[in-house]
Amino acid sequence: MSIQYKKILVTCALPYANGSIHIGHLLEQIQADIWVRYNRMIGNKVWFICADDAHGTAVMLQAKKRNISPEMLITNVLNEHKLDFFKFNISHDNYYTTHSIENRTLINEVYDILKNSGYIKERVIFQLYDMKKNMFLPDRFVQGVCSLCQAKNQYGDHCEVCGGTYSAMDLINPVSVLSYTKPIARKSLHLFFDLPYFTNMLKKWILSGVLQNNIIKKTQEWFKYGLKKWDISRDSPYFGFKIPNYVDKYFYVWLDASIGYMSIFKNLCKKKIDLCFNEFWKKDSTCELHQFIGKDIIYFHTLFWPAILEGLNLRKPTKIFVHGHVTINGDKLSKSKHTFMKASDWLQNYDSDSLRYYYACKLSSNANDIEVNIMQLVQKINSDIVNKVVNLAVRNSSFIHKKFYGKLSNVLDDLTLYNQFLNESKNIECFFDNREYSLAMKKIMELTDIANKYINDKKPWTLDQKNNDKLHSICSMGINLFKIIVTWLSPVMPELAKRVEYFLNKKLIWKELSSPLLNHNINYVRVLYERIN
Ligand code: 2FM
Ligand code: ZN
Repeated sequence: MSIQYKKILVTCALPYANGSIHIGHLLEQIQADIWVRYNRMIGNKVWFICADDAHGTAVMLQAKKRNISPEMLITNVLNEHKLDFFKFNISHDNYYTTHSIENRTLINEVYDILKNSGYIKERVIFQLYDMKKNMFLPDRFVQGVCSLCQAKNQYGDHCEVCGGTYSAMDLINPVSVLSYTKPIARKSLHLFFDLPYFTNMLKKWILSGVLQNNIIKKTQEWFKYGLKKWDISRDSPYFGFKIPNYVDKYFYVWLDASIGYMSIFKNLCKKKIDLCFNEFWKKDSTCELHQFIGKDIIYFHTLFWPAILEGLNLRKPTKIFVHGHVTINGDKLSKSKHTFMKASDWLQNYDSDSLRYYYACKLSSNANDIEVNIMQLVQKINSDIVNKVVNLAVRNSSFIHKKFYGKLSNVLDDLTLYNQFLNESKNIECFFDNREYSLAMKKIMELTDIANKYINDKKPWTLDQKNNDKLHSICSMGINLFKIIVTWLSPVMPELAKRVEYFLNKKLIWKELSSPLLNHNINYVRVLYERIN
């Protein structure tokens, strides 16, 4: 019987093209990348895609601030983002942009279908208008009190405190961020997507196993208020795609970003002849779609996005996976509090695997916030990776090199122990599959302790001279346990895995866990992992 491997498309939320990648973005990308690497290792066919979210007011404003065109800004930022992700070994198959020909074409097609199906309708609404600057105010140019939860200083599109979305007109006491004057209400023609029409479908869909329990509850709260029609248009000035047959109207960035998930894949299909766009996106697709997002953008992904897909008669996500925010000293990352750490800042002081391992030790299947504490990280890396994992290799390989010319024995000293490790592999697979990385790391470290204890008990250093065969099989056993441990760690620590592959003179392959290295030459490596100070 042949095993059926899955075809999986994985996405992360698209980072805005208005600033640098920081350790908050990295939490999500690392979480997804571990899952992707693990799935690839067990044989599934995985495509991991992401892109810069290139449109909208925030990008427009940032370009203005830097005195360059938005096109110039998004090109520069895209290069920077790609390099950051590369340095953290995020293994995207395609990292693209929403400002692409594929996205422009697709959003026009999507718009036609939704409009012809009656899901998009015009409506004249009142919009906030800045009399001093003579312009309609985009959402991000207005601040006021959230009408849902009364939080102060919220922008005009959604509330960062309660996560609700609304129109800027709903803000209480709005103020123009451009002129600090009170804007007036002026009429403007806008286009609305009929989200309420999809309410029943969405109510059922969120219970179909796509969401974590807490996220279901959160989404159900929004049904209580009643879903509102979604304004998918924006007045000029705006940076984005123009809506056909209208003057000075643009698609709202969140619409073209969602469509971005498809257009990034479309671009990838152009480069890979064996990939078929329809096979992944058609309604009855057997391919899986797993989407990693933060808890601030649940609304878009559990309501708008599946409703659009339904309107297009396309497949919906298999899983929307929500994580918490990164905090430092209990606070969100913030430039003013100096708790904002960019990806590039991290690499000035530490290596990429250290952050990947630290996050893995903290991540689970819930959406709780993740507190980053550098002292704790340093201590954890040194005690787990240097003192336990790498030490296992060092203490055994020194004998293998000194006494046996770098060649492992043809027997393992303790087959029972070796099989105990293999039996644990199923549990570790289950933890990775369910995104319970902290449980996986805990189990792996417990087993590393057992491997080290085995060596301590056998005291190979006392055998030196007396019993060469025994010494050889014990140290070879230690190296083989080390191989299993690092294979398990390799989705988390790809740099360490690379060095270990050279050291073991062998690729680390999940399906070969049960084949020990016997009669096999290993290489000398001075340092497998540098202690952090
Ligand atoms: O919140 C954000 O950073 C957005 N740029 C995410 C967009 S994800 C999308 F495409 F739906
Ligand atoms: Zn609110």
